[in-house]
Amino acid sequence: MNNFLIESNCPVINNKSPGNCLYAYIMETIDLGIVILGVKEKEIVFKNKFASDLFQDNDDNLGYRALLTLLLSEDGKVPPNEIIGKAYTLWYKNRLLGYTPYMISNRFIWVIIRDITERSRLESIAEAVNSMENISYIFSGIRHELGNPINSIKMTLSVLKKNLNNYSTNAVEKFVDRAMTEISRVEFLLQALKSFSIFENPNIQNIILEEFLISFISLVSSDLSQSGIKISKLIVPPVEKISADQRLLHQVMLNLITNASDALKNCENPNIFIRAEKKDGFVAVTVEDNGCGMSEEEQTNLFKPFYTTKTQGTGLGLMITLKMVTLMKGHMEIKSLKDVGTKATVFIPEGKKNE
Ligand SMILES: Nc1ncnc2c1ncn2[C@@H]1O[C@H](COP(=O)(O)OP(=O)(O)OP(=O)(O)O)[C@@H](O)[C@H]1O
Ligand SMILES: [Mg+2]
Repeated sequence: MNNFLIESNCPVINNKSPGNCLYAYIMETIDLGIVILGVKEKEIVFKNKFASDLFQDNDDNLGYRALLTLLLSEDGKVPPNEIIGKAYTLWYKNRLLGYTPYMISNRFIWVIIRDITERSRLESIAEAVNSMENISYIFSGIRHELGNPINSIKMTLSVLKKNLNNYSTNAVEKFVDRAMTEISRVEFLLQALKSFSIFENPNIQNIILEEFLISFISLVSSDLSQSGIKISKLIVPPVEKISADQRLLHQVMLNLITNASDALKNCENPNIFIRAEKKDGFVAVTVEDNGCGMSEEEQTNLFKPFYTTKTQGTGLGLMITLKMVTLMKGHMEIKSLKDVGTKATVFIPEGKKNE
């Protein structure tokens, strides 16, 4: 294979005038896979570093026929013209690859390959979240998320089973580690999903906000006081009843309080203040903290799934909170100032007068 090696006297690397190795340098550093297959000689003419890393590890090294079969034609024959220039996707070793093959004369096929795993994962979940009215979107995203690691565990274990007698202890350990990594992914997802079951059939009723907040605060106050956090509340008259689902509201408040309490770690005089007042036909319930706050840029990511700055966070808390508030026909907003604090407000419909 004709690999474009980067020479140590490369003028680009040495900051002199660009020469031929400029192209080689780009080829080797770009985060796009490029593979050129020689159709006549049945050989891989070129494979850049990104493609080599994708299609090769210690266990296997894909040759011409294997690559052709994987990317272009199931029978390993040169593909017909109609597949050239079109975009395809492929799951390979846990990565979702997007790729397009091109033909150069009838001697070479070159394939350009992108790793779109992350993009597709976020897009599919973001799409689910945007379609608030259709919860099944969320579940299809989750099926997809769970399906991948489980498939990969299955494959890893079946290879291991077949080779149990001829693999060295080191090789076995490698396979077991691979399966364990995938199991951690599943665990992470299950943890993220624990709040989803309460989405079924919200039970919207009149709730007396003062009573709800008194009992809610009594539940969270001992945890908060252990972290030295003071919590207080103010209900501005004439706020009285709201129209909400008790369990959803509890979860919403819990998510907001947990975020506030996380933001208050290592802060002086940590305080959480809950304030409820009427606003535009809603009752606005604000959870305010004097914690670390967020920059404007950080705030743009808040409702994106899996966005987290915490080592133990799932990054689904606010997304789920927003979903629950929407199910109660409300909305929410978050305002924050870096190093000053954060105000998270949920707008819940007022209670019905005659109930
Ligand atoms: N009150 C707050 N003060 C400062 N930053 C906050 C606050 N609330 C949320 N954030 C930021 O928004 C991010 C996303 O919050 P979110 O609740 O969605 O996920 P998380 O708290 O990281 O994880 P979890 O899914 O366990 O709730 C947090 O990681 C944090 O960076
Ligand atoms: Mg959270």
